[in-house]
Amino acid sequence: MAASVSLTGIKPTGTPHLGNYVGAIRPALELAREYDAYYFIADEHALTSSRDANELRRHTLEVTATWLACGLDPEQHIVYRQSDIPEVFELDWIIGCVTAKGLLNRAHAYKAAVAAATERGDDPDADVNLGLYGYPLLMAADILVMRSNFVPVGADQIQHLEMARDIAGSFNHIYGDVLTIPEAVVQMETGIPGLDGRKMSKSYDNTIPLFGDPAKTRKSIMRIKTDSTPVGEPLDPDTSTVFALLQQFVSEADAVAVRTRMEAGDASWGELKTLLADTLEAALAEPRARYEELMAHPERIETILADGAERARSTSRPLLADVKRAVGLR
Ligand code: TRP
Repeated sequence: MAASVSLTGIKPTGTPHLGNYVGAIRPALELAREYDAYYFIADEHALTSSRDANELRRHTLEVTATWLACGLDPEQHIVYRQSDIPEVFELDWIIGCVTAKGLLNRAHAYKAAVAAATERGDDPDADVNLGLYGYPLLMAADILVMRSNFVPVGADQIQHLEMARDIAGSFNHIYGDVLTIPEAVVQMETGIPGLDGRKMSKSYDNTIPLFGDPAKTRKSIMRIKTDSTPVGEPLDPDTSTVFALLQQFVSEADAVAVRTRMEAGDASWGELKTLLADTLEAALAEPRARYEELMAHPERIETILADGAERARSTSRPLLADVKRAVGLR
């Protein structure tokens, strides 16, 4: 029997930062070792909020190059761009015809947009384009078109997975056992703190770019806010941004050693920050070189994506043919 299929969708809406790496990229790459893994860049999903063509193109390349540089092997796994798979879009329509409007009314993102507009006294749908409204449906199509068995997701995507399961169930109830019902693999969010101590996030403007200029990264690290414990006094690792970041990039034994020194009053913030900057640089230098090489040759990224799309379509074409036959579109 073929291995189980896992599918990871990545929305190209920003330049990847350390928080993305620790929270999403690294765990997804580890998990996928056991599966026949598909990874795709969800550029059509990004279009629900993007209004800048060059930026969307740039983010698509950056995100693809990042995953490749971090170890995603396009020979072993399948890497493609959503908009290269026309079957996704055709399936979107067909499953839309068995999906109650009320199901989409319950989507968290849609409800949040409605609540915000209502609060302002605007028309409830003032901020809602049809792409945003149909987002969960397109996501269900992504998943179902590749006969995915498992979909690794963060907690914020669980509802979308439930919807994909509901939609596949409705379809199968009417037309027979055509679609594979996917399962969510919920990944605990290992959020890491950003430069200001809040969760690292693009929306807080507190990120460290994953493959940014190392000198700038070092400067940012030196500016991380710390408490004013005098040198020689114990430092608390558990409330320290510097320690939280360091911990993600050293062995457990090394983390314990640093913790012990902090608690003994045997480490200064300046020294710890230098250690963090050095550790990050050691961990990121190699993948950064791969990233820069790829970004200098976007045609290589395009070739990988085109090849991935061809391979992915050998799954999506027959699936769509089955679906069309089942509903009577041919
Ligand atoms: N909605 C997901 C996110 O924002 C991205 C995504 C789109 C996705 N289609 C998917 C994830 C299919 C998993 C499977 O992160």
